[in-house]
Amino acid sequence: MSDLNKGKFITFEGIDGCGKSTQVKMLVKKLEQLNMDVITIREPGGTRISESIRDVLLYRDTHELGGRTEALLMTASRTQLTKEIILPALDKGTWVIADRYADSTLAYQGGGRKIDLDSLEKLNQFATYDTVPDLTFFIDILPDEGVKRQNTKLDRIEQAGIDFQSRVRGLYLKLAEKYSNRIVVINGQEDIETIHKNIWKEFEQRMLEK
Ligand code: ADP
Ligand code: TYD
Repeated sequence: MSDLNKGKFITFEGIDGCGKSTQVKMLVKKLEQLNMDVITIREPGGTRISESIRDVLLYRDTHELGGRTEALLMTASRTQLTKEIILPALDKGTWVIADRYADSTLAYQGGGRKIDLDSLEKLNQFATYDTVPDLTFFIDILPDEGVKRQNTKLDRIEQAGIDFQSRVRGLYLKLAEKYSNRIVVINGQEDIETIHKNIWKEFEQRMLEK
C-alpha cells in the first residue's frame, strides 16, 4: 500500500487539565461529519494490557513507583497500543487521533521527573516502532489554570503539584521549538469554541489542503 492510502496520525499534548479531551472530541466529531474514517485513543491505556498498566501507573496505591519504572511502564503501554491499534489502523487508511503520545513521556518523565532526555528519546523510538505523528497540537495553559480546572479526585501524577506541572510545560515549550514543523502551539487559555476554531484552521491547512 502506498503512503497516500495511509491514514494520518494526529496527537494532542499538554499539561493536566489543558483541555485536550474536550478538543479531541470536537475535532473527531467534525471529521466524522466529513465522513472520514477516524478512531480516538488515549494514553496510557487503549488496549487490554495497556489499561492494566494504566491502572498500576495512576490508580493503585503505588507511591513508591520510581521515575524510570514510570517511564518504562508508560512506554510499555505505548508499544502495545501502537502494535495492536495504531499501526493496523493507519495501514488500512484510518485516521488516528490520540489524547497523548510519545511527547508526554519527554515532558512528564523528562521535564517533570528530570530523567535524561536522550534515554527517553531512544526508549520512545523503540516503543513506537519509530512512529512519529503527522501533526501534534500542544494546548498551552498556565499551571495555575490547570489546577483550577481539575476535579477533586486527583490521580497519582496530578498529585505531583504545580512545580511539577511547570517543568512539564517548560519541556513541552522546548519540544515545540525543536519540532516546530510538527508541533503547533495552541493558546489553551481561550474559550473552548475559539480553541476549536484555531485547531480546525491549522488542521485544514496542514492536513486537508495538501
Ligand atoms: P484534559 O483532557 O487536558 O485533562 P479536559 O478536556 O478534560 O482536559 O478539560 C478539563 C476541564 O476543563 C473540564 O472540566 C473541561 O470542561 C474544562 N475545560 C476544557 N477546556 C476549557 C477552556 N478552554 N476553558 C475553560 N474550561 C475548559
Ligand atoms: P489522564 O487522566 O489520562 O490525564 P489527562 O486527561 O491529563 O491526559 O492521565 C494521564 C496522566 O499520565 C497525566 O498526568 C499525564 C501522565 N503521563 C505521563 O506522565 N507520561 C506519559 O508518557 C503519558 C502518556 C502520560
